[in-house]
Amino acid sequence: MQYDFARDMKALLLVGGQGTRLRPLTINQPKSIVPIFNRPFLHYQLDLIKQVPEIDEVILSLNYQPSRIQDVFGDGRDAGIKLRYVVEPTPLGTAGGVKYAARGVEETLVVFNGDVLTQVDLASLIAFHRERRARATIVLTPVDNPTAYGLVETDPAGNILRFLEKPKADEITCNTINAGIYVLEPSTFDRSPDAVAWSIERSFFPSFIERHETFLASIYRDYWIDIGTPEKYMQVHRDIMDGRYAMPPFNGKPGLSWVSPGARVDAGAKVDAPAFIDEGCIVRAGAHVGAHTVLGRGCRVDEGAGVAGSIVWPETHIEREAQVRDVIIGRESHIGRNATIDGGVLGDKSDVAGYSRI
Ligand code: GTP
Repeated sequence: MQYDFARDMKALLLVGGQGTRLRPLTINQPKSIVPIFNRPFLHYQLDLIKQVPEIDEVILSLNYQPSRIQDVFGDGRDAGIKLRYVVEPTPLGTAGGVKYAARGVEETLVVFNGDVLTQVDLASLIAFHRERRARATIVLTPVDNPTAYGLVETDPAGNILRFLEKPKADEITCNTINAGIYVLEPSTFDRSPDAVAWSIERSFFPSFIERHETFLASIYRDYWIDIGTPEKYMQVHRDIMDGRYAMPPFNGKPGLSWVSPGARVDAGAKVDAPAFIDEGCIVRAGAHVGAHTVLGRGCRVDEGAGVAGSIVWPETHIEREAQVRDVIIGRESHIGRNATIDGGVLGDKSDVAGYSRI
């Protein structure tokens, strides 16, 4: 069968999910705008997309707390790319979300799950998709423990052969999983049903195999992570501070401490690298900021308090002699005097009473 292939391009970001695995961090905002250091996550995806000049518009497919995302990015002027928002009336799943948001689109679409961080070369991916005249191309990434995932099996030429959902050890034939980045031809969207939540991996992609269409995989072996759980969210910060993923202010250099010029670290306070201390923070004499700690804007760490391996969102106050290790703490929280917290995730406005042990 002969198809017409679209020539222009748009991007579509799937950012409508509730992000339940990342709760409580997603109670007051969608996963795609949780801060990575001091920037909403989606900025990093937009930075990648902006490297492809042919992409003239980014469509955001929204459902959960849509106005939160709109408030951050507006029409995209500050982010430097035109944005359009489409809010689903009900959650339509990843395939339904693409179909609904892409109504009327006649361009090839680059689709991102709104929670993956990578430096994949989009221009090469699009060139590969076009040279091979594919109807759909998926980025795959290798994993260490294939049994935990849905695997995607390919032949040496990159054709996708099948999807294996959480295989048993003796069924494993590959270690590549869907990385949540796709190039899709617009003529394929109509195969998803209307008004039904349809998953892109379980329903939409298998249809290409059933129809014997050119359906390709591009394996990306460099940095890739999804920020879908608190562990991974913390890991992203560590990877950036350890130089495994290059982005400002660390820029791929391990072992740095970045202290905003607008922060105050008193003489007699100790900061172990790598660390990030944002504008307006106050770290008092005798306080200790241990390695792999991120203090968001306006945080305070009082005398004798210690915070290590932790991500602390803005305007949080850690009182005297409190000890915080490997914790994610939501905005405007208060950790009382002499409290000890070892591991865990605290939501926004948490209040831990003095002398607590958690
Ligand atoms: P969990 O509840 O923790 O599984 O997170 P999630 O809701 O984000 O689901 P998942 O990680 O599987 O979603 C992958 C991407 O698709 C995320 O960027 C979601 O925002 C997005 N997504 C998931 N479901 C929908 C949906 O029904 N509509 C839209 N528009 N996007 C969705």
